[in-house]
Amino acid sequence: MSLFRAHPLRTTLTALLLGASTGALAQAPALTADSLSLKQKIGQLQQMHVEAKTAAEIPEELKAAIRNGQVGSILNIPSPEVANELQRIAMTESAAKIPLIFARDVIHGYRTIMPTPLGQAASWNADLVEKGARAAAVEASSMGIRWTFAPMIDISRDSRWGRITESFGEDPHLTSVLTVASVRGYQGDSLSDPTSIAATAKHFVGYGAAEGGRDYNVTYIPEPLLHNIYLPPFKAAVDAGVATIMSAFNELNGVPASAHDYAINTVLRGEFGFDGVIVSDWDSVLELVAHGYAEDKKQAALQALKAGLDIEMVSTTIQENLPALMDGGKVTEAELDAKVKRILDLKHQLGLFEQPYSKGDPAKSILTPEHKNLAEQLALESLVLLKNDKQTLPLAKGKSVALIGPLAHAAHDQLGSWVLDAQKKDSVTVLDAFRQVLGQDKLFYSQALYSSRSRDSKDFAQAIDQAKKADVIVYVGGEEAVLSGEAHSRADTRLPGAQEQLIRELKKTGKPLVVVIMAGRPIALNDVIDEMDALVMAWHPGTMGGPAIVRLLQGDADPVGRLPVTWPKVTGQMPIYYNHPSSGRPASEGNFTQMDDFPLEAFQHSTGHKNHYIDIGFKPQFPFGFGLSYSSVSYSDIKLDKKSMRADGELKVSAKITNTGKRPVTETVQLYIRDLVASSVRPVRELKSFQRVTLKPKESKRVTFTLRSSDLAFYNQKLEHVVEPGEFHVWIAPNAELGMQTEFSVR
Ligand code: BGC
Repeated sequence: MSLFRAHPLRTTLTALLLGASTGALAQAPALTADSLSLKQKIGQLQQMHVEAKTAAEIPEELKAAIRNGQVGSILNIPSPEVANELQRIAMTESAAKIPLIFARDVIHGYRTIMPTPLGQAASWNADLVEKGARAAAVEASSMGIRWTFAPMIDISRDSRWGRITESFGEDPHLTSVLTVASVRGYQGDSLSDPTSIAATAKHFVGYGAAEGGRDYNVTYIPEPLLHNIYLPPFKAAVDAGVATIMSAFNELNGVPASAHDYAINTVLRGEFGFDGVIVSDWDSVLELVAHGYAEDKKQAALQALKAGLDIEMVSTTIQENLPALMDGGKVTEAELDAKVKRILDLKHQLGLFEQPYSKGDPAKSILTPEHKNLAEQLALESLVLLKNDKQTLPLAKGKSVALIGPLAHAAHDQLGSWVLDAQKKDSVTVLDAFRQVLGQDKLFYSQALYSSRSRDSKDFAQAIDQAKKADVIVYVGGEEAVLSGEAHSRADTRLPGAQEQLIRELKKTGKPLVVVIMAGRPIALNDVIDEMDALVMAWHPGTMGGPAIVRLLQGDADPVGRLPVTWPKVTGQMPIYYNHPSSGRPASEGNFTQMDDFPLEAFQHSTGHKNHYIDIGFKPQFPFGFGLSYSSVSYSDIKLDKKSMRADGELKVSAKITNTGKRPVTETVQLYIRDLVASSVRPVRELKSFQRVTLKPKESKRVTFTLRSSDLAFYNQKLEHVVEPGEFHVWIAPNAELGMQTEFSVR
């Protein structure tokens, strides 16, 4: 007899599923009366966390809660041993014998750490992002984990927010493309494949708009903006079949996201048709009380349940209060059953009823050469060359290098935020990698600062001595891992500690200065960027960051990364993003006067009234989509297949892309549009598509995009999704500031 037939709940579950499709769920007698008691059903809604490192350390209270049917899933599983012991208790010692799901934050790799998500986004390479998520799923599932709380798809326009490092950046289109890739990677072809893990699109919704970039802060997002910018990645996740969605911590327009009836019930369940599991964030149901939205835990539980949440993470507000809420008639058994059904469905899809225990082989799955190669390739493609004066890079072969800085040999910090299962001994640092390619007489190293935060300059003299011995200085600094991530927002996003001072001292040696930044966010470099001859953004590049960086610096690989965020000059420019609506007084080069150029005693009016800062201007340091290569590329001959299209039609636009340099190049060709006049002020540019094209020296290719009506549609003031007839600009461009432009009309 197969397990499917033998399991008592499977019959119940089947009845339940059938019942659901005929609208008879509330009456499903087997579930309500025979199989699951009320307590057991409520237990499915509870996610607990475990801190035990071994089975022997599992607390007795947790074991008892599982035996009593009070736990449906468990977060922070450290090993198959712990997972299997907890599962054994659920499957053999609890009355209902419903398998637990084991979850963990596997955010950018399990043990083989890929670049942080923001770094991965800089690759603009969906295929690699998918492979990275797949590798993470293979590794994590071998350890008993079948559910990850990733991808984080919060749009972020403010890099003071520490969690921008976990995001795919500021753009809804790029984020949506990478969301789909990531969900596919984690979930594979089928969730029932034991190497697949359920993905979670998080945090629903608006969390990345935390006011002032301060984590857990309030968010105010007008509904059209919510629909046009913050929601599309979630729609993409739902369409890609994401198994679960996590509600956010933030208050959104006055209502905490974890109790947001409109966002969850109307939009996510109603408009997007999401019928998977919605899990709260850690304690976010309980926090409805701290928000001052619920007067007590009972009201918090009611609000979360009514808003559509299925599982409460860690806090026990629902478990404690649901019986009384049901007694009082506030929540019906049918409402509870619908939630239990979604959770059981997920367990069913994961194949947990058939195979509740982890049978993975970590030794064969973790840190495989294939995963390490992938991590190196992703790290390589995430590197963005931002500055390269006088072709400082690639480094000429045979030249000696002074490798300086607190992150040049920082095995832990190159891994970035959210690496619960990483081990720093696996990391290959920049120093390690340079040692492989340069002899002892060609490499001079000094850490110079004991950490990225250090203000102690006692080792500067030694670093300068090392610098003087070499042909070129490579400085590796930025932010340690712990300076970004959850709850690690910064009000000042310059290089921390004495790094700016050190960079100035190094420059005084007269040697070419290459700066490599590892950080969770763009760093405000306005005060020090002129000291740098070349600049590479490496994000937190992960386990194989060192070899990737050294290959790029040495010219054994070409830079392909492009910024997934607008890079500000100074922190005070934030929030900053390329797809902003047009001002009535837009600034441009011709009408901007810098305050140093104001005549003495100038009158207010004489200095211009444009949309800019008088000190820093109106431009970012580097625009969204920007990144240099070791070659040069020209864009020419933009063409449309017709000058106008119908509102429901499509149009082809193409341009000739030429490698005008001497090295091969992989160019990320970006398509932007602008709706010139509309019933809502539209962004000055919006990314709608992109293609990566590889060109040999002197080679040209025509790159063609198809613009569809869905690319031109937006949510208007009445929240209707419309294409408004009129004139549009279209650019085929290397970034959000430049490119070939033409126009078309929509009739
Ligand atoms: C974070 C989530 C995470 C959860 C579980 C929370 O603090 O906001 O992103 O998935 O913890 O670790």
